[in-house]
Amino acid sequence: MEIRKLPIPRPTFHFTPQSNWMNDPNGLVFDRGLWHLYFQYNPEGPDWGNMSWGHASSTDLQNWTEHPVALPYRQGEQIYSGSVVATQTNGDSLLTAYYTSAFENGRQAQSRATSSDGGFTWEQDPQNPVLDRGTNAFRDPKVIRYTDDHGDFRWIMLAVEAEDRQVLFYHSTDLRSWTHQSTFGPLGDDRVVWECPDLVPLPVDDDPNNIKWVLFISKNPVGEDADPDGSSMSYIIGDFDGTAFTTETTELLRLDHGRDFYAGVTFDNAPGNAAIMIAWMSNWRYAGAFPSAPWRGSMSLPRQLSLRTSAGVARLVQEPPEFIRTSLAESQPVPRLDTAQPLSFAVSGHSLIDLRWDPASTGTLRLKLQGDADAQVSIEHSPTSGALHLTRQGRDTQAVHADFPSTSTVPLDGTAPVRLLLSLDGPLLEVFVNDGESTVSNLVVLGSGTVTAMITTDEPGQVAVAMINIPALDCARQD
Ligand code: FRU
Repeated sequence: MEIRKLPIPRPTFHFTPQSNWMNDPNGLVFDRGLWHLYFQYNPEGPDWGNMSWGHASSTDLQNWTEHPVALPYRQGEQIYSGSVVATQTNGDSLLTAYYTSAFENGRQAQSRATSSDGGFTWEQDPQNPVLDRGTNAFRDPKVIRYTDDHGDFRWIMLAVEAEDRQVLFYHSTDLRSWTHQSTFGPLGDDRVVWECPDLVPLPVDDDPNNIKWVLFISKNPVGEDADPDGSSMSYIIGDFDGTAFTTETTELLRLDHGRDFYAGVTFDNAPGNAAIMIAWMSNWRYAGAFPSAPWRGSMSLPRQLSLRTSAGVARLVQEPPEFIRTSLAESQPVPRLDTAQPLSFAVSGHSLIDLRWDPASTGTLRLKLQGDADAQVSIEHSPTSGALHLTRQGRDTQAVHADFPSTSTVPLDGTAPVRLLLSLDGPLLEVFVNDGESTVSNLVVLGSGTVTAMITTDEPGQVAVAMINIPALDCARQD
């Protein structure tokens, strides 16, 4: 078979490193007007290895400036995922990072570094590693804040024993010494490892007197016959009393129904205590085969998290960031178009597509995206099955990796009106269903030019459509 070199356009409103390999977001922190994004990075090549913390920052969560590597690997020690928290003492700001030291002998333990220049240069703690269980899959420390009912404050650290499928909880009052408090898990599928935990308090339906705690876990299949669907994120809603996470359910809920949303964590210190999550938009199953160059790996849009009651139970809602919501609000009034004939639009490869329709009158709706690649992305919503399917297929899709072609399914109430917001940025497609009640995030290969969006419905009906091009801004990158 002839191998075609497929051009993958670089995203313009998502972060990608200028060159080389990137995976998980690390150390997300807001500090004095800047959103910092550290990330798992190989400074020397397009494949996973030499893991270090790369660094980028943004004032608006849309345009990112890449900075020099913040925490480089060294002989015998890679710097795996972790987190950063911001503190103020006498008006001076200090950032404290916790990361996993992955040693050559297989040992994984937690280490600490501090920055007093706003996150640009870091000093490692001479006592590193500062939290060591003598085990080989103890990783991904996430430090969060906890204040009890009496106003007493403590730091909480979550870290996984990845292969045991456990989250360990520690507490500290000085961000130096940590005491083990409790362990959550194992539960659910035992053919996965748990990675990159996070724990976030969220009000249910905006009620400050009804706070639930949401535990986030990234799951990656391991072993022989590992699930070809690969990596995915889950969440579980419960309570946290400063010591232990408890929950009445044993069900891990799927966070995103697509294939490419992994290792998502939230920012520390976001204004208004907003819970804003960024994830890596790839999947360990084929991440190393994705043919983008000279960069490999992209971050998702930053998502604003909340809890909303739906059919009597609280569910996670993930809304797009403010710049996307503002672009939508400022766009032309949405026309209602008749689908007696197929509707066809040309959009740039960096666009928002906002659709609303009532399946009770249109029946099944199909949206197909086609660019200059031999590949298609199609979305189908059927009121009878009550599900939304997103399929990526075609020769150029198959050429990425045998497990790259896929169909993702979102269960929905089939007859209720539907709103879909598609964010397409080069190879990154994120679909927000019904204002973030469900999401589907996928890498796609559509080619490098204009994309045609075609809409058909089983019955002639009305579909409200808005298409918004997101213009590329010059993205400064510092070396
Ligand atoms: C998750 C992960 C983490 C680890 C990092 C290594 O994608 O496997 O558990 O810290 O990537 O790059």
